[in-house]
Amino acid sequence: MMDAAANRTLTQVGAGTPMGELLRRYWHPVAALAELGDHATRPVRLLGEDLVLYKDLGGNYGLLDRHCAHRRADLAYGVVEECGLRCHYHGWRYDHTGRCIEQPYEDTVAPGSRQKERIRIKAYRVEALAGLLWAYLGPEPAPLVPNWEPFTWANGFVQIVFSEVPCNWFQCQENSVDPVHFEWMHDNWGARLRQDKGPYAPRHLKIDFEEFEYGITYKRIREGTDESHPLWTVGRVGLWPNALFTGNHCEWRVPVDDSATLSVGWFFSRVPKDREPYVQKRIPYWTSPVKDPQTGRWITSHVMNQDFVAWAGQGVVADRTQEHLGRSDRGVIMMRRRFLADLELIAKGGDPKAVIRDPKVNECVALPIAWRETFTQGLTREQWEDLRRGGALGGAARRDFAWLVGQPEEVSRAYNEAMGWA
Ligand code: FES
Ligand SMILES: [Fe+2]
Repeated sequence: MMDAAANRTLTQVGAGTPMGELLRRYWHPVAALAELGDHATRPVRLLGEDLVLYKDLGGNYGLLDRHCAHRRADLAYGVVEECGLRCHYHGWRYDHTGRCIEQPYEDTVAPGSRQKERIRIKAYRVEALAGLLWAYLGPEPAPLVPNWEPFTWANGFVQIVFSEVPCNWFQCQENSVDPVHFEWMHDNWGARLRQDKGPYAPRHLKIDFEEFEYGITYKRIREGTDESHPLWTVGRVGLWPNALFTGNHCEWRVPVDDSATLSVGWFFSRVPKDREPYVQKRIPYWTSPVKDPQTGRWITSHVMNQDFVAWAGQGVVADRTQEHLGRSDRGVIMMRRRFLADLELIAKGGDPKAVIRDPKVNECVALPIAWRETFTQGLTREQWEDLRRGGALGGAARRDFAWLVGQPEEVSRAYNEAMGWA
């Protein structure tokens, strides 16, 4: 059982809190690259800070304080220019370092005034990778945006899906090292939700967890599989500090503040060999709702939506003083211990787990990936069809999108076209 102080330590993300400072040592995905092509500005709330992300006409990204230094207007309604973002209220303009570079009225009536030079708003680093825009709110020197292995793969259709989950990020991330929930939540509950009264799914017989440089792998043996199965020999990954990585997709649980999380899903589908070479022109993005607007109830039809119900159901911040952990929770315990140990490490000036600074390493950061060849080498159309029939790759081999509800028609169309299933 955990005491209330440790529960607070693990869950508070504001500036100056231990975990808030730890999480500021990492890059966080906050938007899709294509989004800033559609709208030049986008409000972002990250780690309890209200910010605005923009792309100016010169193609530079910036992440600034949400409020103008003049009289606090909302810079999410600002106008981008060749360089920087102009406030819509009285026209003050800022560059990506947060410097005020123009005050139109002051500049007209008092051209020599040096007031501008003293005005600087909060500004953070932004980088683009894998169709996502990443933000870094921590101390300098900033580490590299991790170039995880799947980001380097070719011949794939990628899509990015956001969901706003109204609870603390840490209980979401605990789900990334929780193999047993898959049997109960997705298989058995999923079946009951579909009115399937059949027998329960194959049970988990054995699970194991292993910490490695970039996270914790979890491994499972279920009834009907043995120790030669890729989900035992390779397993799946709770990726540091806040993601689940399953091989063909990654789900970040981005801390918005203490009571909200932005789920960012990045999904890679390798096209059948006869569609190669395939180059995706634009990585689409969309937002999946978490509640049914008609009934107000949680949506339970898709895999990640089911996860959201569990996370939010634990309370806005799960009360870990009231839980009873079992043998299924060893990964959760390992994860908590590593974070608590890393808090001490950064207090002493060290780099926490999975911070990457070596450009050579970052050319491609290899991860444990079950069925890796299916993503790196590709499959023939016949192999895809076999998989769809046998279900060995689960949702990855389906034509519809199994993970989240609400995929827009145009994304579905683009996906099917890429796969040659149109
Ligand atoms: S409030 Fe932004 S320029 Fe006046
Ligand atoms: Fe799940």
